[in-house]
Amino acid sequence: MDAFADVEDTGLDDDARDAFHRDVVAGLSAAPKTLPCKWLYDVRGSALFEEITHLDEYYPTRTELALLADIAGDLGAALPARAWVVEFGSGSSRKSDLFLNALTDLRGYVPIDVAGDFLEAAAAALADRLPHLHVVPVVGDFTAEIPLPPMLDDAPTVGFFPGSTIGNFEPAQAARFLARARRMLGDNAHMVVGVDLKKDLGVLLPAYDDAKGVTADFNLNLLDRINRELGGGFDRDRFAHRVRYDDDEGRVEMHLESTVDQTVRIDGHAFDFRAGETIHTENSYKYAVDDFHRVAGGAGWQAARHWTDADDLFSIHLLAAA
Ligand code: SAH
Ligand code: TRP
Repeated sequence: MDAFADVEDTGLDDDARDAFHRDVVAGLSAAPKTLPCKWLYDVRGSALFEEITHLDEYYPTRTELALLADIAGDLGAALPARAWVVEFGSGSSRKSDLFLNALTDLRGYVPIDVAGDFLEAAAAALADRLPHLHVVPVVGDFTAEIPLPPMLDDAPTVGFFPGSTIGNFEPAQAARFLARARRMLGDNAHMVVGVDLKKDLGVLLPAYDDAKGVTADFNLNLLDRINRELGGGFDRDRFAHRVRYDDDEGRVEMHLESTVDQTVRIDGHAFDFRAGETIHTENSYKYAVDDFHRVAGGAGWQAARHWTDADDLFSIHLLAAA
């Protein structure tokens, strides 16, 4: 989106850079090689992800937006008035307007994201669109507990977690995330979670391997980021974007495959790759409605209601603190 064309990437602060360094050395030393997906989102990665959400092949965003528009009245009726909305992984906040406008007498909106520069730009753009809304962005990693702004106090809270970002966790991590969100949001909490459904591979796989190669670019950008922030020596032309579906796990996997035998040096470390060896960069789990209810139920949430679109592509779940 053009709104994000001139966001400057100020890079990671020292602590985050150290964490990135540790994750890269550990992940590339492991067998099989792997990297945590949160590092995909520098400013360029965030802008590329936003571009993915507009692709023909990427059905989740338009399906979830249409579903949100359909159920806005139901959500407004089911959720408490005078609440704070806390969004986990808010990105461009493109879905947030619809959701925020559905709620009665909203107190404010706390978008949380690891991509700090992009978050500030997205929060400023949202505050322009909704001038009466109190917007309090928080830069943070939601795989750990994040202190919420003190002004939330005892007000009702509504966690918003769209985009099937929950599918990027393994199911056990998803349960830990939901339990942590439950603690952060307090006893007077609800949560609205967008969850992608299992479906035909003819629809599923192109969403992660589009014809224009935007998703490939998004995945390969991680190598550029390692080069830039950690002094890495990756040649992105010697890696290829690979996507596969693991039926037993119910997940789409994204990998970066080395196309040749090579050694890549990063800040004094050397990592050997065989031709065909991959770095596993992301999972996207797909859930049947009952599977997701089990995960949420084990994490202190009661499944209050859920909605799906007419083609059964995507689901939105309303959870209440149990
Ligand atoms: N909610 C938006 C964006 C989803 S993409 C939508 O539905 O379209 C996932 C978002 O989560 C990105 O903005 C990414 O920067 C953020 N993210 C990924 N891992 C994160 C983490 N560990 N902590 C906080 N934010 C994270
Ligand atoms: N939550 C999104 C999803 O699972 C994230 C995503 C979409 C993604 N496309 C991607 C992550 C491509 C990595 C690569 O659909």
